[in-house]
Amino acid sequence: MSTLLIKNGRVIDTANKIDKVTNVFVQDGKIKSVGTSSPKSDMVIDAKGLIVTPGLIDMHVHLREPGKEDEETVASGASAAIDGGFTSVACMPNTDPAIDNEASAEFVYLQAKRAGKANVFPIGAVTKGRKGEELSEMGQLFRGGAIGFSDDGDPIKSTEVMRRALEYSKMFDKPIIDHCEDIDLARDGVMNEGTVSVSLGLVGMPAVSEEIMVYRDITLARMTGGRLHIAHITTKNAVELIRQAKKDGVRVTAEVTPHHLILTDEYVKTSQFDTNYKVNPPLRTRADVLALREGLADGTIDAIASDHAPHSEEEKDVEFNIAPFGMIGMESLLGVVLSELVAKKGSNNTIPFPSRLSGKVITLNQLIASLTINPARILGIPKGTLSVGSDADITIIDLNKEWTIDPAKFKSKSRNCPFGGWKVKGKAVYTIVAGQVFSADCQR
Ligand code: DOR
Repeated sequence: MSTLLIKNGRVIDTANKIDKVTNVFVQDGKIKSVGTSSPKSDMVIDAKGLIVTPGLIDMHVHLREPGKEDEETVASGASAAIDGGFTSVACMPNTDPAIDNEASAEFVYLQAKRAGKANVFPIGAVTKGRKGEELSEMGQLFRGGAIGFSDDGDPIKSTEVMRRALEYSKMFDKPIIDHCEDIDLARDGVMNEGTVSVSLGLVGMPAVSEEIMVYRDITLARMTGGRLHIAHITTKNAVELIRQAKKDGVRVTAEVTPHHLILTDEYVKTSQFDTNYKVNPPLRTRADVLALREGLADGTIDAIASDHAPHSEEEKDVEFNIAPFGMIGMESLLGVVLSELVAKKGSNNTIPFPSRLSGKVITLNQLIASLTINPARILGIPKGTLSVGSDADITIIDLNKEWTIDPAKFKSKSRNCPFGGWKVKGKAVYTIVAGQVFSADCQR
């Protein structure tokens, strides 16, 4: 029998409406009690002055295995997750080959088990080979452990395929996670379409290309009763569409990334075409950022996810027009979000901030819900709480830890992080998976 006592931390478990200074006792990898008792234990962590939460969940990451193991593997991604404070991540199926069958979903679990770090849950492809034509064997994927379905990286272009995916997935009560982009409208675009793209002479991706797809998907979810999850939402009108759909009782949820909550398209200009700011969907405008914050604050947006998208330096170190889309984010997420959205202070980043944004910010409890119970419920996984009997996945956060984000020190194999050099406050200091304690010691 192994035991662990986490003493005197501020325990925030939003699912159980707990926010108080108390103890958490773990026995054999499970939560045994949350309360004032302090049994004798093999290991004791003094969490005085620290926040103790259910293990954080990043519901949207790209691990490049199989296919591009030089950029990320399940193992390196699972290590990066631990350093970022995440005990569980859900990985997208845009690998090569795609995760579109039972064996490939099982492969992800196998690699995660071998790595022995964070839990990694596979999301299965909606269509075979992610080609958008024929539905994948969703039942087999589900049997292999897929916890949702997505062709992320690409939208589900065919309205008919999307309809059938929503209908079929009802059988498993798993969400269809759509990357909402009308690719005819966004084609050849490399950044947000607007005054900045015009001034730079770059081809833009209009906000409506996202909004049209969000509207289409909501309409189909309304009709089919299927569960729809909108990945990486970025525009003001998309937030409003989801707000209204939720009011109407449509089964829709949404996630937002830290970069879309904090950065604007002006960064492409001020950074002089730094390809780390090239991401899909693109960084939008100030009005969009403020609407996303509002949406997060009022519950329209359920989750924060990194959309961790590793790319090699060779691939990114090219002209803006031809660089791949994507930025990594698992190891910067918590520091950035705590500093910019929760902590009220302004940060003194070394990178010139073109337009300091101050919009509605969220409470610490809202932030924790968006990284624990909300993604767990969306994906239907038994995580995100400290309920007695559940797996002892726990994150311990030091809100006062000041550190500078240095991608060179990341456990991820890639370095394409736009937040390098940012001074942030707040870091996971222990990440605990089924009772196994990892101390997130790098960059402290
Ligand atoms: O920027 C992005 N990168 N957006 C996506 O949807 C896919 C991702 C990737 O896989 O690189």
